[in-house]
Amino acid sequence: MKKIISMILCVAMVLGCVSAFTGCGDKDDDTLVMATNAAFPPYEYVDGDNGFAGIDVEIAQAIAEKLGKKLEIADVEFGSIIGGVQSGKYDFGMAGMTVTEDRKKNVDFSDTYATAVQVVIVKADSQYASFEDFYTGFDEEEKPTGVKEGIKIGVQQDTTGDIYSSDEPKNWGFGSDNVIQYKTGADAVQALLTDKVTAVIIDNEPAKSFIASNEGLKILDGEYANEDYAICVQKGNTELLDQINTALKELKEDGTIDKIVAKYIK
Ligand code: ARG
Repeated sequence: MKKIISMILCVAMVLGCVSAFTGCGDKDDDTLVMATNAAFPPYEYVDGDNGFAGIDVEIAQAIAEKLGKKLEIADVEFGSIIGGVQSGKYDFGMAGMTVTEDRKKNVDFSDTYATAVQVVIVKADSQYASFEDFYTGFDEEEKPTGVKEGIKIGVQQDTTGDIYSSDEPKNWGFGSDNVIQYKTGADAVQALLTDKVTAVIIDNEPAKSFIASNEGLKILDGEYANEDYAICVQKGNTELLDQINTALKELKEDGTIDKIVAKYIK
């Protein structure tokens, strides 16, 4: 009996070794590549000498650690994250990314790890008190009927701020003609500072961060949209998705996520 067991162990070891030298032990397996757009503080940004920083970056690091993998970050345009995850170029996308029905057609989302709201940033001396003031009027169902002359909304291209604002007024958008897309939220904010747009629509925490680092801006009262953030993986990659969800659950339960968030959001 002992002999048989030791033979089985031997065979298992040999198989284990072989697999370590073929395919399964290959370098990519030790690394998780995260696609992000690191111009979105406090979720992800480039921090001078320290490289990438932010809530997503630290949560991703904690997940990778739990999975026994190294984390590699690819800093790309926000709009190319989903395509790259879908094609397998990146293992997952984490970028303060809102779960939407449209995006769900192309990628699978993890459990939510944060909630957010889209808010409206204007110049401190703006004549507008709320985004409702950008509309000419409302119909019997209280839906906007048109957009005031000259209103221009700045957004980061391909974000939900862009998608919602570009919709028609009757769906609470401002019409694509009145929306100007920028590569980053910071670029949109620069456009606001130089009066190229009336307002910027962006997620609340980045909005606060942009307000703190630029004088003469304010966030209008009222929430333009409510959202959930999640990590996306290639459609059908249930193995990685389950691993991520398990890690997220543990990190939520043991207080790691709260600790990371508290470090960045005071
Ligand atoms: N939550 C918004 C969205 O999913 C904006 C995310 C932008 N993220 C970034 N890292 N630039 O569309």
